[in-house]
Amino acid sequence: MNITFSKIAIPAQGAVVLAVGEGARLGPAGAALDKTTGGALTRAMKAANFNGKREKTLTIVVPGGTKLSRVVLVGVGEVKSVDGMAAERLGAAMFDAVAADASAAVVLDVFDGVKAGLVAAYIAGGVLQKSYRFAKYRTKEESESKPKLKSVAIQTGAAAEAKRLFADVAAIADGIFFARDLISEPPNVIYPESFAARAKELAKDGIKVEILGEAAMKKLGMGSLLGVGQGSERESQLLVMRWDGGAKSHAPLAIVGKGVCFDTGGISLKTPPGMWDMKWDMAGAGVVVGLMRTLARRKARVNVVGLCGLVENMPDGRAQRPGDVVTSMSGQTIEVQNTDAEGRLVLADVVWYAQQRFKPSAIVDLATLTGAIIATFNDHYAGLFSNDDDLAQRLTAAGKTVGERLWRLPMGEEYDRELKSLIADMKNIGSGKGGSITAAQFIQRFIQKGVPWAHLDIAGVVWNEKGTVLSAPGATGYGVRLLNQFVADNYEK
Ligand code: BES
Ligand code: MN
Ligand code: ZN
Repeated sequence: MNITFSKIAIPAQGAVVLAVGEGARLGPAGAALDKTTGGALTRAMKAANFNGKREKTLTIVVPGGTKLSRVVLVGVGEVKSVDGMAAERLGAAMFDAVAADASAAVVLDVFDGVKAGLVAAYIAGGVLQKSYRFAKYRTKEESESKPKLKSVAIQTGAAAEAKRLFADVAAIADGIFFARDLISEPPNVIYPESFAARAKELAKDGIKVEILGEAAMKKLGMGSLLGVGQGSERESQLLVMRWDGGAKSHAPLAIVGKGVCFDTGGISLKTPPGMWDMKWDMAGAGVVVGLMRTLARRKARVNVVGLCGLVENMPDGRAQRPGDVVTSMSGQTIEVQNTDAEGRLVLADVVWYAQQRFKPSAIVDLATLTGAIIATFNDHYAGLFSNDDDLAQRLTAAGKTVGERLWRLPMGEEYDRELKSLIADMKNIGSGKGGSITAAQFIQRFIQKGVPWAHLDIAGVVWNEKGTVLSAPGATGYGVRLLNQFVADNYEK
């Protein structure tokens, strides 16, 4: 998608998207166009009962008196209250309205004053995010259903400022797209080694990328992670990515992703319905990789280390059995009662390694960890678990700002108890009730005293069959904007 910013000048031909304020208020260029068309815009708004309500659209095809193919009126609601998030959503609605055109001019003449540049930049970001398609494996697609929009000219009174602000917005989209690409790929294409190879591309963005294979992890004593991957033909990998944009003396923030490239359940095999969904059981890792790209491309003034535990959970003659006992890098032993509760086994070793090696100021993990979190929140919130009220509050606030919402769930000794094992330090499942919480309790057992930690259970929000406001059906990229905002709000100010 080619996006440009320019001053307001309604083109003579093609598609025009016109922002309309609450109360069907047109800006000066819109009013002029209304005149040219002999009042077609105002008549159409009346006839359709279109009042400029936010995200409502009204399309006027081949308006008389012009050579335009269409004018799409997009309600922006109360102009003053449009913030970055509202603007992003508007951009997505605008994309949908003109997806069938090759190019379009977006006329933002109802916005003026201080926020015009910001609104224009974020509208562009919404257009961009909604334009993403993962179509590389489609050899046939009906041309009517295929979006054709290739270039969008955003017209605003604050073009220079919009263009400047758009640099960061584009960096965010780059990260989201990288995450969506990885999450969308089929599991025969993306497996631990190929995932790590893709992440190596981040070196071009200025990120230091390191990959540890099974021999190195064995030396480190990562029996918990390695146990999950031992039934797979694919070698497990630990991916370590560093962005050092902050002061040398500052301890890094560690972001850890669950990268189960395919989760069959292992010997505790899943049932066929929906098993294919488990190709996106590496979404946490995909989001970490996407986030690293965003931080690097906008040259964030922060030190962040991203770590991904990459494995494939397969049943096989060598696979781990329910009942096996493994020793984690922390030294704690785990009775693996259910091989399908594998994400926590992977995270246990990766969060431990992150703390040992990097002494991070805080650690946040992202994981498609439990089906139970979907039962709790459906696709509306990700679950948040933390040992630190302040960290939890900051993450929740960042999520609110970007519209990737988090809701905190409780933790406590009464849940932790469920992990008692008869023969090892713990088992990897609880009673089966409150399953998202016992999973979080399990990870917490690998967090050292005094280290602020948060766990985001993103199983319900990373893939959406119907599509979301900002994404087509499939991978959403949830988490990239959230963590980018969290970094910007708390580490760069
Ligand atoms: N990857 C799954 C969780 C999941 C389920 C993510 C559905 C996305 C959609 C995870 O590894 C898993 O299998 N969890 C089990 C845990 C149980 C065995 C304690 C679950 O949630 O059923
Ligand atoms: Mn599983
Ligand atoms: Zn899983």
